[in-house]
Amino acid sequence: MQIVKTIDEVRKTVKAWKREGLTVGLVPTMGYLHEGHKSLIERAVKENDRVVVSDFVNPTQFAPNEDFESYPRDIQADAALCADAGASLIFNPEADEMYTDALTFVDMNKITKVLCGKTRPIHFSGVCTVVSKLFNIVTPDRAYFGEKDAQQLCVIRKMVRDLNFDIEIVGCPIIREADGLAKSSRNTYLNEEERKAALCLNRALKLGREMAEGGETDAEKVVNAITAEIEKEPLAKIDYVEMVDLNTLEMLKTAEKPLLCAVAVYIGKTRLIDNFIME
Ligand code: PAF
Repeated sequence: MQIVKTIDEVRKTVKAWKREGLTVGLVPTMGYLHEGHKSLIERAVKENDRVVVSDFVNPTQFAPNEDFESYPRDIQADAALCADAGASLIFNPEADEMYTDALTFVDMNKITKVLCGKTRPIHFSGVCTVVSKLFNIVTPDRAYFGEKDAQQLCVIRKMVRDLNFDIEIVGCPIIREADGLAKSSRNTYLNEEERKAALCLNRALKLGREMAEGGETDAEKVVNAITAEIEKEPLAKIDYVEMVDLNTLEMLKTAEKPLLCAVAVYIGKTRLIDNFIME
């Protein structure tokens, strides 16, 4: 497995694969890979002849007050995980390689302004921009994204339709720790006490899912029950708890499928997201 730093090297390698008639999967990541990423890579390996993993902490999706500088990085550990999962190439560019002199950004209305977009107003423009660039650099047949960031997946699907990228977007299920906490590179920020407190997200979402699956159709009641469960945890501060239409991200009054019930919660200084989907 190769690790390459330049756009030219990726292009040359992918062109050679395509000349041989091979299919290419892309797994975009910001590195510090865990079992969640590994599951995406393994799925991509099953469904494509070659798999590129991009490993790039993308500065344009972080606001100045966010954790760009402190975001964990470990390319050696990432390389070992990618090799183990069967990836063919890691694209690990510097920020200059991706953005020198860039004046063009991809933006989207409506679905980027709700949920995480309310408190992270520039985030999805950064995500759409870097993902478009990766799509143009790697030209994959398929690209793989986790359902933990369900809004991101919805935004990428919409961008692919709107901008006519000829790429299949594959959403993959959330991978959890044994105690239910959704795997995330940001879990490493949690101290022991916060790590325990973070379990309130999954506990509350489980309760909400049970209500919705048990026939509760009033979305507000489900949201209130989830909110009350999280509020029992003193270290937790809710950013949002919402039930929305899975495709439009419009708020639901009635818990009708397909729905996304999503939460963002600060545990100490760490902002965690989690959700359940009913299709
Ligand atoms: O989900 C992520 O890790 C990032 O938002 C992504 C899609 C790799 C873009 O930087």
